[in-house]
Amino acid sequence: MNAKKVSDSINHMNELVLPNDTNTFGNLMGGRLMYWMDIAAAYCASKHCNTPVVTASVDNISFKNPIKLGHYVHIEAKVTRAFNTSMEIHLKVWGEDTLHQFKYESNEAYFTFVSLDPNDRPRTVPEVIPETEAEKELYDGALRRRQLRLILGGKMKPDDATELKALFNGKG
Ligand SMILES: CC(C)(COP(=O)(O)OP(=O)(O)OC[C@H]1O[C@@H](n2cnc3c(N)ncnc32)[C@H](O)[C@@H]1OP(=O)(O)O)[C@@H](O)C(=O)NCCC(=O)NCCS
Repeated sequence: MNAKKVSDSINHMNELVLPNDTNTFGNLMGGRLMYWMDIAAAYCASKHCNTPVVTASVDNISFKNPIKLGHYVHIEAKVTRAFNTSMEIHLKVWGEDTLHQFKYESNEAYFTFVSLDPNDRPRTVPEVIPETEAEKELYDGALRRRQLRLILGGKMKPDDATELKALFNGKG
């Protein structure tokens, strides 16, 4: 299976915040944004492995700045690292007021997707080739983030999280 570059599957998605997407303060609902983020990330993951994918987990999402009614939402989704059958996708979200030409950060998050075979069982995914310094940094941190989410999901014993422990011991 050939390794693929991060740039081969990067996805940029744009949406306009309409009245039905907002809460009573006139801001984009968090749930609607997570729905769009899931779609943007799924496209990126599926493009990386060229198979159907499912969302296995979503890491912590903190909403830094609300996105207003009438503003545009820009979502960038890119694969940071592939493991065996799963991939980590990094998402960054911005809001944009096109009338006043103002773009602002909204939030970022990590989603994990699993590639599925025709029997809906997990299937091996191609490795990721990070090229830029930012891609290499995300690639390096992915192992620790994976260990933390597997511990929290009850899928890994803390004692087995070697890279994560090294970080806390000042050896990471
Ligand atoms: C995700 C899913 C395919 C994992 O299946 P499974 O039988 O547990 O398979 P495995 O234990 O072999 O795990 C498969 C991969 O998923 C990863 N995984 C499982 N649970 C995970 C979690 N909570 N967080 C991150 N990764 C997880 C494993 O680490 C493994 O990755 P790897 O092969 O790269 O090491 C299965 O739990 C599923 O179908 N869940 C529902 C997905 C869904 O419907 N999502 C939409 C939201 S409702």
